[in-house]
Amino acid sequence: METKNNIILRAEHVCKLYGANKNEAARLMEEGGDRNTVKQKTGVTAAIWDVNFEVQRGEIFVIIGLSGSGKSTFVRCLNMLNRPTSGTIRFENSDIGKLNKKELMDYRRDKISMVFQNFGLMSHRDVLGNVAYGLEVKGISTIEREKKAMEMIDMVGLSGWEHQPVSALSGGMRQRVGIARALANDPEILLMDEPFSALDPLVRADMQFELMGIQRKLGKTIVFITHDINEAFKLGDHVAIMRDGRVIQVDTPEQMSAHPADDYVRQFIGSADRTKVLSVRHIMVTPSCVVRLGEGPNHAIHEMRRAGVSSAYVVGDKMNLAGLLTIDSAVEAIKQERTIQDMMITELPTTSPDTLIGDVLPIAAEAKFPISVIGEDGALKGIVTKASVLSSMVSSPNEEN
Ligand SMILES: Nc1ncnc2c1ncn2[C@@H]1O[C@H](COP(=O)(O)OP(=O)(O)O)[C@@H](O)[C@H]1O
Ligand SMILES: [Mg+2]
Repeated sequence: METKNNIILRAEHVCKLYGANKNEAARLMEEGGDRNTVKQKTGVTAAIWDVNFEVQRGEIFVIIGLSGSGKSTFVRCLNMLNRPTSGTIRFENSDIGKLNKKELMDYRRDKISMVFQNFGLMSHRDVLGNVAYGLEVKGISTIEREKKAMEMIDMVGLSGWEHQPVSALSGGMRQRVGIARALANDPEILLMDEPFSALDPLVRADMQFELMGIQRKLGKTIVFITHDINEAFKLGDHVAIMRDGRVIQVDTPEQMSAHPADDYVRQFIGSADRTKVLSVRHIMVTPSCVVRLGEGPNHAIHEMRRAGVSSAYVVGDKMNLAGLLTIDSAVEAIKQERTIQDMMITELPTTSPDTLIGDVLPIAAEAKFPISVIGEDGALKGIVTKASVLSSMVSSPNEEN
């Protein structure tokens, strides 16, 4: 198999079945059976079935799905808290199912840390004691571990709280302690199983923001589980969507929004704020009437009539946008014997293909004309109308852009 060195974790055909009659259940699942039917026929739950994906080093990889879809079962396979019934988990190409006891302990201690939804803190210890715990277990000296712990406490914004008992902290602050504790070990991978689900929305938004900051700063790889599509799209470099134990689609938020694999995914992301994920290139259209700067107004009018529109985009030699000519001003140009250049409007709203739709919303709302989309080479790539911006908020964009 080809080795890609930017891939840190890889799941290959990972299955986890619960129950006695696993062989029969596996056979039915292989034939494409759905989990409920298989459960009824065999008594076996296929918690996850044939999960395949790759996590790149340094990315936030989000797994999303409804409750019971298999997210926790899967994430616990990544550190062998759950042993897959079949299939392979590779960390940097080594099969972690084959590690012996000592190697597995080292892997859990040095490479991968887990943050839980219910925080999993020790209530009899203060913040510092909780954060330093993993280092204590490793046998690191008091001075050294407290120094490292204080660094992480600072990183998650809890400076000044280090000697408070965790029982004195709010939910959001406790989860900060949980994150600081996981980070103190300096793991390469952070597993986070619905870490923010118990937090109220405002605290949650803060935590998402801070997690992204921490991740950028430390460059950790994060596998993040959630059932909230907006959280998934906000945090994820890649998002895997699970249903009934299977992975339906793995993609960037933008690709998933633009090209949902099936109706289930479409429905799932239906509640997402698409304007924060989709870029302008997905909704721009080709202007129906374009004329060259050197053409005369008669030609421009002819082209506008042919296209059935009342304005034309005027471009230079390299498709660079020069201006917009309305049919009225083209008529004026003929009357006054002026050129297109004299009469065109040059103050036009512009944007780039990679701008998020949400960021052009205010411009679109104000603009008298469509927004021109200009590529890096300075050429006119398309236009975005107010109508297309608004409709992108409620429906699927064009499949082909
Ligand atoms: N230890 C277990 N024994 C039997 N069934 C289990 C066990 N753990 C999980 N399951 C089942 O596997 C499915 C997936 O569960 P889980 O991974 O917890 O989903 P999620 O985290 O997405 O909510 C569920 O149907 C659950 O009941
Ligand atoms: Mg779960």
